[in-house]
Amino acid sequence: MSKLPKSLPNIEILDEKDKRLRKISKNVTFPLPEEDIKRIHDMIDYLEMSQIEDIREKYDLRAGMGLAYIQLGIAKRIFVIVYEVEEGKFDRYVVINPKIKSESEEMVYIAEGEGCLSINRPTEGIVPRHARMLINAFDEYGNEYDLRVREELSVAFQHEIDHLDGILFTDRIDSKNPYKNQNRYRSI
Ligand code: NI
Repeated sequence: MSKLPKSLPNIEILDEKDKRLRKISKNVTFPLPEEDIKRIHDMIDYLEMSQIEDIREKYDLRAGMGLAYIQLGIAKRIFVIVYEVEEGKFDRYVVINPKIKSESEEMVYIAEGEGCLSINRPTEGIVPRHARMLINAFDEYGNEYDLRVREELSVAFQHEIDHLDGILFTDRIDSKNPYKNQNRYRSI
């Protein structure tokens, strides 16, 4: 486990009104420039810090589980996810040029609703997501890997892959009927 920095990494996250969030991000080639590797690690530190209550309050942050490059205005197919597997223990994922190799037919949704560090207003409604997926991607050093994700982590991956394609979770909510077809999916 890496040590968290003493101060918050300098990360500026675009708000949903910013049209850059609608760009389609492009695949990257390796090796990544050093500045990208540093930025990726900063993003991971930022997310982890946002999930630790004391730090979150100190810096007045919102808790975030995932962050895509395009949320910083950079249209590269890179995102990070920090998932708290148990109290104080975090799994960190660096996901570059991801491909979905397979996905479950079963669909789930987050009962309390999805959130996004770029959407700074209350939202309601359900977002159907695949319960499980098999992903192929690269880490920041260009190592290729396959990863099976399920449940909340699978939702987070789909949310972030959407960012790479210029899609926000609110796009997937029916504005007239935010809970449309709710009983067809399993809530988690
Ligand atoms: Ni988001």
